Amino acid sequence: MSTWYLLGAGNMGLLAAYYLRQAGVPVTVLRHDTASPLRRRLTFADGRPPCDLVLPVLSPVALTEPPRRLVVACKAPYSAAALESVPLTADTQVLRLQNGLGSLDGLLPEGVRLIEVVTTSAVKQDGPAQHQVVAENETWMGGHDVAPDWFEQLSAHWPNLSWPADFQHRQWHKLVANAVINPLTALHDVPNGRLLEDRELQHQAEELCREADQLLTAVDPTWPGDSLPRVMAVASATAGNTSSMRADVGKGAVTEIEAINGYLLRRAAPLGLSLPAHERIVATLTSRT
Ligand SMILES: NC(=O)c1ccc[n+]([C@@H]2O[C@H](COP(=O)([O-])OP(=O)(O)OC[C@H]3O[C@@H](n4cnc5c(N)ncnc54)[C@H](OP(=O)(O)O)[C@@H]3O)[C@@H](O)[C@H]2O)c1
Repeated sequence: MSTWYLLGAGNMGLLAAYYLRQAGVPVTVLRHDTASPLRRRLTFADGRPPCDLVLPVLSPVALTEPPRRLVVACKAPYSAAALESVPLTADTQVLRLQNGLGSLDGLLPEGVRLIEVVTTSAVKQDGPAQHQVVAENETWMGGHDVAPDWFEQLSAHWPNLSWPADFQHRQWHKLVANAVINPLTALHDVPNGRLLEDRELQHQAEELCREADQLLTAVDPTWPGDSLPRVMAVASATAGNTSSMRADVGKGAVTEIEAINGYLLRRAAPLGLSLPAHERIVATLTSRT
């Protein structure tokens, strides 16, 4: 496989780089302001030996030709800035490893093959910036009928990676879970499990799920429309966790709400649907950050 370039060498980007390297593929980080090479230690929840990842770094302006394969794993609001000076052509394949949807809309040239990635794996920084802790789970790729030629080689080294036929529904399930758990836990500064205990939060979760199901059923009549129990199952399975949006608000960072709830609102508008609970939560969260 030819070199994969990585935009966003943070938690998820490093995990993707690790699997690509395991598959024998060269990975280069694209970044303006980082000293080369990038050194990070990944430790794994399953107890296997840690990996000391060393990745070359190149400024996008130093590229001699457009990248043929690019992973975009920065947080959604930084996508435009990250892609700004990267030359892309219709031959480029882009792997979008981000929560939310639509964050690269309008940023890629016509013809680029965009492969979407949804993962339930979790990676977080532990202590110093150079140390990431990985809890592996499932990862799905899709967005096209047929998997790219490199998929088989990569899936041999990326645990629980598949190219499922029902990718879009899996992507929407993750989107709805993010659209409910993230803003509610961020606004109330609580761990995910509080959604199961607090009546007011449950009521808001019900409204957000009902509106998301209404939209997604209008877009696709085969949508199962069972978001509430699914979202509550995610909140239960991750009860002690801090959502990424709660963490971003705590740090005073820009959140991904525009790519999550904002995406639902952008899909609803042309259908003449209003999603008042999503509108309210976007407005409230945006006004506080
Ligand atoms: N972490 C998880 O467990 C997890 C799970 C599922 C999905 N996701 C999704 O994966 C995406 C990435 O999340 P993350 O946790 O990996 O975030 P992260 O640790 O903050 O990593 C994002 C990386 O992007 C870099 N970046 C920002 N602006 C850039 C630019 N203009 N050019 C190049 N690089 C830039 C950041 O560099 P600086 O640090 O220098 O700003 C950082 O290294 C998000 O959409 C998130 O929702 C994460």
